[in-house]
Amino acid sequence: MIHLTINGKAIEAPDGVTILEAARLYNIGIPSLCHLKDIHTYGSCRICVVEVEGMKNLAASCIVKAKEGMVVHTHSPKVRAARKVLYELLLSDHPKDCLNCTRNQNCELQELGYTLGVTESRLSGEMSPAKVDVSPSITRDTSKCVLCRRCVTVCNRIQEVGAIGAQNRGFATVVGPAMGLPLDSTACAMCGQCTVVCPTGALTETDGLSKVWAALENPAKRVVVQVAPAVRAALGEEFGLPAGTLVTGKMASALHEIGFDDVFDTDFAADLTIIEEGTELLGRLSAALTGGEAALPMLTSCSPGWIKHIEHKYPAQLGHLSSCKSPHTMLGALAKSFYAEKIGRKPEEMFVVSVMPCTAKKYEIQRPEMGQNGIPDVDAVLTTRELARMIKASGIDFLNLPEGGFDRPLGLSTGAADIFGVTGGVMEAALRTVYELVTGRELPFDGLHVTPIVGLEQVKTASLTIE
Ligand code: FES
Repeated sequence: MIHLTINGKAIEAPDGVTILEAARLYNIGIPSLCHLKDIHTYGSCRICVVEVEGMKNLAASCIVKAKEGMVVHTHSPKVRAARKVLYELLLSDHPKDCLNCTRNQNCELQELGYTLGVTESRLSGEMSPAKVDVSPSITRDTSKCVLCRRCVTVCNRIQEVGAIGAQNRGFATVVGPAMGLPLDSTACAMCGQCTVVCPTGALTETDGLSKVWAALENPAKRVVVQVAPAVRAALGEEFGLPAGTLVTGKMASALHEIGFDDVFDTDFAADLTIIEEGTELLGRLSAALTGGEAALPMLTSCSPGWIKHIEHKYPAQLGHLSSCKSPHTMLGALAKSFYAEKIGRKPEEMFVVSVMPCTAKKYEIQRPEMGQNGIPDVDAVLTTRELARMIKASGIDFLNLPEGGFDRPLGLSTGAADIFGVTGGVMEAALRTVYELVTGRELPFDGLHVTPIVGLEQVKTASLTIE
C-alpha cells in the first residue's frame, strides 16, 4: 500500500494504481472523458488533469500513477481553469447541434460541460470535415468524434474484430475503417459495442423508428411487435429505474398503448429454437456415435453478429453452426405465415418489428436468406434506446403504467427461453433440453458443468480448441 494526500485528505491505496483510481477509492470525483474504467486508458482528452505538488505540469490522473507521499489537488483554481479551456477546445471542433442529436441528454460530452460549468464557447476555428457513414446497424458521424478511441479499444481488444482504428495524423485524424471504407464493407460484426462506449453521438444505432412510425400510421398494415428477453431488464434504466429492474408488464402495456396490433414475446421463438437446436444436436451426436460424419461441436446460430464474425474470420468452421434461424426471425416467419393465416391476413400485409438488445439484428433482417418470396421475416429492428424514445414520444407515463401482458398465442414461453437473456443461457437451455429428451428426466439445478464463451474475443480460444 502507498500513502498520499488528495485535497488534504490522507489516502491509502494499493501500489500501482493511478491518481484517478486512488481518488475514486475515496469517492473523490475527478471528471474524465476518454477513460473507460478497466477497459481503456489512453490519456488523450486531458480532462482528468490534476495538480501534483512538485510537478511542473498538470498531470492526467487517469495515466499518472499515484506515488508514496504525493500531494494532489483535484479542483484547484488552476485545474478548474485548465479543464474549462480543454473542454472549449473540444467544443471548437464539435457541431453544436445537441437539440437534434440522438444522444441529447444521454451524452457524456454534454454532461461534462454542465459539470465543468462551461457556459460559453469562446473558441472557434477550422472544423474537421464531416462524414456520415450509414451501415444497416451503425451510423458514424465523424464530426461528432472526440478521438477518445474507446470504440477502437472495444472493437480491437474486447471484441477482437478490428474493424476500426485511428486513420491519418494530427488534425486530419479520424476514427473509422482503413482507407476510409464504409463500415459495412469491412469485417465489422455490427455488434454495436462501439455505440455503447461512444461518449457522444459519433457512433449510434442506425435509425429504425421512421419505418415503424410509418407502418403504425398505415391502416393496411397489421403491425406486430416482439421483444427479446434482455430488453425487459434494460428498458427501466431509460426511465430512471435501477439497472436490471424487470419491467415486462409496463413494457407490454406501453407497446399496446403506442398502437401495435399484437405484442408478442421473442421467448416463444426462443423455445422453438431450443427444441430445434437440441434436436439438431442430438442428430449430430447420434451420427457421430454410429460412425457417421457430424460437425461437432455444434455452435449456436442465434446471434447475427457472431454469424458475420465467423463468416469473416473462421469460414472453415461454418459447418459447425446450427442450421436454425435466430429466434426473432423465427417468430417473424411464424407471424407472417401461421399467424397471418389464422387471422385472415396475407404475409405482405403483416409488418413485424423486433425490439432487440443488439444492433446486429438490424443488419440480419436485410440478409437475403431471412425471408420468403421476397418478403422479409422481420421489417424493422429497434434497440432498447429506440423503444424508450418511442415511449417518450408517445407521451406515455411509463412508470405509472399498469402491468400488462403479451398477446396469445405467440406470447407464451418457458423458463428455458427466459434465460436466453443471460450469458450462457442459450447453451444451458439447449443442454437441459437434450438431457431431458434422452433420459426423460430433468437435469438437477446444479447438474450442469459447462463454460460459456463470452464475447467475440473468447471465440479465438474456442476456435483453437475446435481446430
Ligand atoms: Fe484522462 Fe482523458 S480521461 S486523459
